[in-house]
Amino acid sequence: MRQDLIDQAYDVMRHNDRGTYTVPTHGLYPFQWNWDSALSALGFAHFDESRAWTELETLFAHQWDDGMVPHIIFHKEDDGYFPGADVWRTGRPVPTSGITQPPVAGFAMRRIFDRSREKEAVIDRVRALLPKVHAWHRWFHASRDPQAAGLVAVIHPWETGRDNSVDWDDAFTRVPVEGVEPFQRRDTSHTDPAHRPTDEQYKRYVYLLQLFRGLGWDNSRLHDASPFQVVDPGFNAILIRSCADLAVLAQELGETDIARESRAFADRGIDAMESLWDEGLGQYACFDRIKDALVQSPSIGGLLAAFCAIPAGRAACIARRIEALAHSARFMVPSHDPLAPDYDGKRYWRGPVWLVVNYMIADGLHAAGQTEIARRIASDSLRLIEQSGFAEYYDPMTGEACGGGNFTWTAAMVIEFLKL
Ligand code: GLC
Repeated sequence: MRQDLIDQAYDVMRHNDRGTYTVPTHGLYPFQWNWDSALSALGFAHFDESRAWTELETLFAHQWDDGMVPHIIFHKEDDGYFPGADVWRTGRPVPTSGITQPPVAGFAMRRIFDRSREKEAVIDRVRALLPKVHAWHRWFHASRDPQAAGLVAVIHPWETGRDNSVDWDDAFTRVPVEGVEPFQRRDTSHTDPAHRPTDEQYKRYVYLLQLFRGLGWDNSRLHDASPFQVVDPGFNAILIRSCADLAVLAQELGETDIARESRAFADRGIDAMESLWDEGLGQYACFDRIKDALVQSPSIGGLLAAFCAIPAGRAACIARRIEALAHSARFMVPSHDPLAPDYDGKRYWRGPVWLVVNYMIADGLHAAGQTEIARRIASDSLRLIEQSGFAEYYDPMTGEACGGGNFTWTAAMVIEFLKL
């Protein structure tokens, strides 16, 4: 085990620790982000398990009454980020954004609890979190799957965590920019603008935000009102996996109603996932609900589907796809196929490698028996760290560090990869 890397990773995490929550990185992201926190909790658990549970508790302390868990919690004022609390205006006692992010907390909870060496000491905390995580999963099915298709839609690209993926380009042509209030971006003052989304994309992000704000953040109206309704296979795989893991955890704790309902969500989701399989791409694809069609975009969203228990034959196809990508990139797994025309190796989710996504894909493929490719993903991830440090993301050809530095969830994933 590389103790030096683990020590460095601990340092990054401690540096970004604000006591009861962690910032993704100082400067660029000065608040608490939803899926960053859940994945970072996995890292904390290796050196301070109690702190890991605190991270999740803080996140769920800001859950909305309808069950949604927001994507950002603005614990403290900081004008270094746009759009800040004054733009979202969600009316929460502690300001939050008004959209959500990939629900990976259920998975993180089970993993941390399974490995816990102090189960008796934490069981009451786990018991208290369980219904909250379940309420969030229920909220997804109620608010984002109105036709009961078994899969949920996102209504803003930021919800997927893959903010400016090529996957959204086509749907974005239907998101207008008229009436967008003037704004000043802050992200481009912290990092290289060539690594970030374009201004044109930002206007559309803000258009959607303003639309939802105008509807009073009423989740019973937002889905149907949104011109952007996309079913993302990666996002759904995370939800399905978290429901399946919550079912196991709930069963263990004697919460049989939660266990039954969670299992049913997961089973239905896995069946419905088949509708996202795209034979031409050889992987899963996003589905655009407004257009009623699959999105022809070979992105990592379709590979992340392997995080849930898809059929073994599908997992094998995803393993083959990643092997094919390895012919055109040095580091696995690029967030977009380097051979596709819109690939951009340094620009956010249009090509670069993210360690969190690597971790989830490797975990799923390992569980499906695709161990060789899972090992390759893990070793590429560590090579990136050795070469370029704890960056936000990396160029898959050169391994160059991109975006922000000293990144919490990157550090957490390094600890996970090394301690597996
Ligand atoms: C960016 C990423 C998102 C992440 C956030 C904080 O917005 O796209 O996935 O949660 O940064 O790291």
